[in-house]
Amino acid sequence: MRVLSGIQPSGTLHIGNYFAMMRPMIQHQRDHTLFCFIVNYHALTTVSDAEALRRDTVEVALDFLALGLDPDKAVFWVQSDVPEVCELTWILNNQTSVGLLERAHSYKDKLAKGFKPHNGLFSYPVLMAADILIMQANAVPVGKDQKQHLEITRDIAMRFNHHYGETFTIPEPWIDDHTAIVPGIDGQKMSKSYGNTLDIFGDEKVIRKKVMKIVTDPTPLEDPKDPDKCNVFALISLFMDETEKSQLAERYRAGGLGYGEVKKELFARMWEFFAPYRQRRAELAAEKGLVHEILAKGAAKARDYAAPTMEKVRRAVGLNY
Ligand code: ADP
Ligand code: TRP
Repeated sequence: MRVLSGIQPSGTLHIGNYFAMMRPMIQHQRDHTLFCFIVNYHALTTVSDAEALRRDTVEVALDFLALGLDPDKAVFWVQSDVPEVCELTWILNNQTSVGLLERAHSYKDKLAKGFKPHNGLFSYPVLMAADILIMQANAVPVGKDQKQHLEITRDIAMRFNHHYGETFTIPEPWIDDHTAIVPGIDGQKMSKSYGNTLDIFGDEKVIRKKVMKIVTDPTPLEDPKDPDKCNVFALISLFMDETEKSQLAERYRAGGLGYGEVKKELFARMWEFFAPYRQRRAELAAEKGLVHEILAKGAAKARDYAAPTMEKVRRAVGLNY
């Protein structure tokens, strides 16, 4: 089965990205043909600092490799190294109704936030459809926020297949309802754009300081506390097994436990959890040219998968004069 997903290089990756997206993706490389890519064309819809885009593309690649993505098992590349996806986007644009794109939540949210919409933002879902369809992906693991984009992809693919004959595999979204939304230090969803993240490979002092700032309620130290309403509990749970979690929940309910104490434990757990990956990341980063070499090989593999689809598409629509 072909499993595919991408992530934007629009900032530094955080533990919400790790537990919800990166770790499950890395696990899929064992049992499936995994397509994992860094969507820098998509990032252009919000990032206009060229230097930042270049830097973050390489940083995200390093993150994935350090965390266990195996480029020999998976197909791992940077989106813009397979420019055929833009050609497919153009072709798919002609099977995409404007109404469908106008109904996209992510587009409407951006409008509501006051973004001046450009056409890139508007047609973002068509590029995403091209990403998925060009690789004939069967399954696309995504967060709930991407569900509608998958529906748009399916709609475009079905329309195309109906008009031009069977061309694309219709992909299924894989939405893991068990992956809770990871809260940020302010209690909102952890997000690069809210400044409330705990970064996977952040600086020790900065992370410790941020952990100590996690918002908690004003329950006095000696009183019983509700673990299910606590941001610190939600975060530390990510690093615990079920037994440890219920033991900590007991300590909450018993009273006499200070949030500061749990915050210190959270920092220690998180720092230790990512220690081997930090080490690996430093080794990878120190090998000059290695990441670029891995990405170039990944792009060549990705283009080999894209080529037969593009040939079929060009023939189907009559571009093969
Ligand atoms: P961000 O909101 O930080 O910009 P993205 O929108 O780029 O993150 O999301 C990349 C992936 O990480 C998606 O699959 C998304 O569902 C997941 N993700 C991001 N933030 C969280 C979070 N706080 N909790 C769970 N999953 C998240
Ligand atoms: N839109 C996705 C996000 O913001 C990223 C993405 C681009 C993607 N192309 C994709 C995800 C193809 C899955 C499949 O998270």
